[in-house]
Order: sequence, then structure tokens, then C-alpha cells
Amino acid sequence: MTKIIDGKQIAQNLRHELAKQVLTQKSDYNIHATLCVIIVGDDAASHIYVNNKEKSAQDTGIKSIVHRLPENVTQKQLDDLIYTLNKDSNIHGILVQMPLPKHLNEYETIEKINHLKDVDGFHSVNTGLLHGASPQSGLLPCTPHGCMILLRSVMADISGKNALVIGRSHIVGRPVAELLLQENATVTIAHSKTKNLPDLCKNADIIVAAVGIAEMVKGDWIKESAVIIDVGINRIMDNQGKAKLVGDVDFAQALSKSSFITPVPGGVGPMTIACLLKNTVIAAYLQNNLPDMAKIL
Ligand code: GUN
Repeated sequence: MTKIIDGKQIAQNLRHELAKQVLTQKSDYNIHATLCVIIVGDDAASHIYVNNKEKSAQDTGIKSIVHRLPENVTQKQLDDLIYTLNKDSNIHGILVQMPLPKHLNEYETIEKINHLKDVDGFHSVNTGLLHGASPQSGLLPCTPHGCMILLRSVMADISGKNALVIGRSHIVGRPVAELLLQENATVTIAHSKTKNLPDLCKNADIIVAAVGIAEMVKGDWIKESAVIIDVGINRIMDNQGKAKLVGDVDFAQALSKSSFITPVPGGVGPMTIACLLKNTVIAAYLQNNLPDMAKIL
């Protein structure tokens, strides 16, 4: 019998814990954790994501500031705003919503953010720490971190398990593979050139699907006891011609096979935002030279 991993509830529990920390930061250290989001242009989906981040931050007691910049902003104007925010000691987290318009360079933009304020965990210092000798000392990327929290909620010991990550992106596939490896899983990363994906799936105790292809992973590929973390968010038409969101795994088929599975929506998505807020609270401690407080989170 498959059980559904309730990402909404687990994210809410985390936000509840963070709200207590936000109050402690205020009362004991006179710090008000503050997240600043920059969004460029008019992409409708990005505006919805940013509004969700803003609301979630506010609900957790984190101060939220959003800079909405026009589509034609120059790289220099964007960089200058980031430099100003880097210098402002009242701002603890800076997030530049992706994708950026084509004339702006996403990688160069992220590199301009002070890595201690890089709450996305995308800056090369943070990715370097993650993949290097000190994996827990940087800010972790939010979606991979959220996947691990969901996985740990149903699997006490990941050590020695066969984990298959489908997708090799720099923001999900590779970092989640690294986090699984740190917990001593035996990790395989599959991608568009991988042969025999169904066979790899059949051997996996853990599947993290982050490939962006609607319902690609089929029920008969899945081992009975597998735990499935579905990162995909794909918009498709249902039988009535209505748009709906589905993951990278065929949920209805997988439900009767795997032991645990995350739904789409309501699985990984809410965890990404909760982990962004967690990074903001950690960043506020780190920037105020309180590393021991950051560790308790
Ligand atoms: N666009 C879609 N997801 C993300 C994310 O996690 N961070 C940023 N900065 N942009 C995104």
C-alpha cells in the first residue's frame, strides 16, 4: 500500500519551527530576518512564484522585500542593485528569480550576490562547499534540501540504499545526488543519454525524478518498496481539456507500486519555499556571527 508524502504538511511544520526562530532572533539578538527577491520582466509564472515566496515569508514572520524591475533593465542596473543589497546589513537573503530575460547573464548575476546572502544556494562558493570538503557549511540549494527532508521523513536510514536521480541539472539533479551520497546511498544519475532507464528504476530503492517530462516514469518500472520523490511540475491537458499539473512520474500507476510517493502539486514544491525561508533564517545568524545558532536549524 503506497503512502503519500504530505509535502504541504511537512513544509508547514518546518515553517512553524522557523517562525519560532524568527521570534528568537528578534527578542534575543535584535535581528529581523529579511529576504529580498528581485524579479525582472513580466513572466506570469515567475510573478506567481515570487508572490508565493513573499506571502510565505510574511506568514513566517520574515520581512519580505520585492524589487520588480522592468524587462529592459540593464545588467549594470541589476548588478548595482545587488551591490546595494549586499552592503545593507538589514538584508540577509537575496534571491534573483529565474529565468532572466535573454540579455542578462544568469550565472554572472548570481556570482554578484554575497555568497552569505545567496539563499538559493546557487553561488559558486556554496556549490563548491556542497561538493567539496565542507558540505554542511554553506547554504544548501532549496529543492534538493527539501527532497532530502521529505525522504528522511519516511526513510530513517538511507545508508546503502540504491538511489536513482533522473536528471543532471545544476540546480536539482547534481546537488540532490551529492546530498544522497553524503548519506551513504549508492547513487546513479540518469539523463537523456541513459540506456535502459526502466531497468535502473527497477533496481532503485529511492527515485528522485527531476527531468521535466510529464509522467515519464511508469508504474511497472518501480520496485514495490521504492520511495519516490517527484520534482517535476508539468502542465498538461486532462481528458476534459482542462490544464492540470503533473509530475515526472505517472502518479496513478506509481501509487499502487511504490511504498511512498510525493504528489504533484503538494509534494516538493512547498518544501522548496520552506527551505528558502530556512536559508534566510540561517543567513541572518551567519551574518551576525552566530554560527552555533545557525547549526540548530
Ligand atoms: N525559478 C524557478 N525556480 C527557482 C528557484 O528555486 N530559484 C530562483 N532564483 N528562480 C527560480
